[in-house]
Amino acid sequence: MRHFIIDCDTAEDDIFSFFLLLHRGAQVHGITVVEGNVSFQVEVRNALWASEFARRYFHVNVPVYPGMERPLVKSFRTVENVHGTGGIGDSALEASSAPEKKHAVDFILEMADRYPGELEFLAISPLTNLAMAYLKDRTLPEKLKKVWVMGGTINGHGNITPAAEYNIWVDPDAAKLVFNAGFDLTMVSWDLITQYTVNEEWEEIKRMNTEMSQLYVRFYTHYRNFAMTRQRMKGNPHPDLITTAVALDPGVATHVERQFVDVENCDCLTRGATVIDYLGVLGKEPNVNVVYQLDRSKFMNMLFQLLKGN
Ligand code: BDR
Ligand code: CA
Repeated sequence: MRHFIIDCDTAEDDIFSFFLLLHRGAQVHGITVVEGNVSFQVEVRNALWASEFARRYFHVNVPVYPGMERPLVKSFRTVENVHGTGGIGDSALEASSAPEKKHAVDFILEMADRYPGELEFLAISPLTNLAMAYLKDRTLPEKLKKVWVMGGTINGHGNITPAAEYNIWVDPDAAKLVFNAGFDLTMVSWDLITQYTVNEEWEEIKRMNTEMSQLYVRFYTHYRNFAMTRQRMKGNPHPDLITTAVALDPGVATHVERQFVDVENCDCLTRGATVIDYLGVLGKEPNVNVVYQLDRSKFMNMLFQLLKGN
């Protein structure tokens, strides 16, 4: 049994990452919510909706813990232009349940103490919650088994700025802390995942006509249009879902290198850039497992199985 916390700035790809974890039998102890994609209120509501859906569809109970609503130091902006005002397009998801009263940061620390060496943290979001947890308990890197991060770039091609990927750009101070803290951290970058978009498979998914596939088409239509018209992509990208697939099955990542990576946290043109010492010229101990290549069909199979419900 794998133990996870999933940290979300809850939009379409975050929700489907949560579903993939459950579909693959992972135990998800909680959804922690952090600032990012859309307004914090909408992110929490989306997480509650996803939890309610999971209760019915997967027969599990996963509580939602609101966390940091802003970065440690800097200001940031939400990206409704990318994900729609509802994070799943421009419509809103409704939820009838309430979030937990406990703060996400305290929940992370409590779970790390309850499952030392077993708990995995899936950060498909800015790293503010994890950085705060680390600041409260500096032994956290020894307690977490793995940290999986959707963030950064390997070739310097960002999405929110020319040089930076959104999750890292939102809170580069948190990312810098987390990258240098000593976690067993794997990074799935933005420019990697742009090569593995859902292209002509979209039509096949439309024809599947399952509850999951219908949801998928509804949630991803806005994101797909944005990616294809504004980001020069052949289809809709899956930053969070690919990171989740890599976490679930190491075979999805076919080329991984352990390297020293740091984060640029200046207030400058390259804010949030991930700097990879690929030649080892800094002489620093490697701190990140950087993913460079994926098995496309493995990932697509995982997605299709989730959508088909088998
Ligand atoms: C990442 O930022 C958010 O927009 C997405 O949810 C994803 O985690 C992509 O840069
Ligand atoms: Ca996300």
